[in-house]
Amino acid sequence: MCATTFVSEERYGVVWMCFGEPAHALDFFPEAAIPGGRRINLAPQTVRSSAPRVVENFLDMAHFSFVHVGILGEHAHAEVPDYEVVQIPDGGLEARQCRYWQPAGMPGQGGGAMIDYVYRVKPPLIACLTKMASGGQGALHIMLAASPVTQTETRAWLVSIHEDDTTHDDQALYDFNMEILMQDTPIVESQWPKCLPLDLDVELHQKCDRMSVAYRRWLAGMGFGWGTVAGARR
Ligand SMILES: [Fe+2]
Repeated sequence: MCATTFVSEERYGVVWMCFGEPAHALDFFPEAAIPGGRRINLAPQTVRSSAPRVVENFLDMAHFSFVHVGILGEHAHAEVPDYEVVQIPDGGLEARQCRYWQPAGMPGQGGGAMIDYVYRVKPPLIACLTKMASGGQGALHIMLAASPVTQTETRAWLVSIHEDDTTHDDQALYDFNMEILMQDTPIVESQWPKCLPLDLDVELHQKCDRMSVAYRRWLAGMGFGWGTVAGARR
C-alpha cells in the first residue's frame, strides 16, 4: 500500500495543498501584507474553461471596454496604450507601464480617470495585478489563483487587497470584485478551443496582446502543458 503525503498551509485566506514537498514558497502575493490593506476573498467560482485561459483573460486589458462597460472601460476609450513586458528575476513575467481609462475602475471612483496597472504572473496559474488611479488614491491589489479541476474546468480563487479604503464596507468591496468576475466568466467560457493554443500562429495577436503573447511563449518555453492544446493531446 502506498501512502501519499501532502502539505497544507493557509495563506491569503486560502488553504493551499501540495502533494509531497512544496517546491516553492507561498510568497507570490506580498501585497497582502501591506499595512492598511483590507483583504476580501471571493467565494471560488467554477469556470468551464482551462486554467491558462482564465489566467490569460486576467492579464488582458483589451477586453475592458467591451466586457466591463461602465466599470473598467467604455467604447469611446478602447485604446490600450503600449506597455512593456519583462521577465522578473526569479521567474515569471511582469507587464509594466500599463494604463487604461476607466469610468469606475476603483471602488468609489468619482468619474473617469486613467488607471495605472502592473501585472505579474508567477507561477504559471497564479496572476496578480496592482491598479491605482494616476495621481494617487489607495491601490487595489488582486490575486487570481486558477485551480484546475480538469483540463477544461477551473476553480477561480480571487483575493483582493484594498489599500486605505475606509468608505466601503466589506460587502460593497466583495460585490465590486464579484460583478467583474461574473462578467468575465461567460467570455472565457466562450473562447475556443478551451485549452490554450501556445502556437502563436493559431490566433491573431495585436500589439495590445503583448502580455498574452509573452505568457504563451513562457508556458511553451517551460514545457507547461496542462490546459494547453499541446497538453490535451498528450
Ligand atoms: Fe475582465
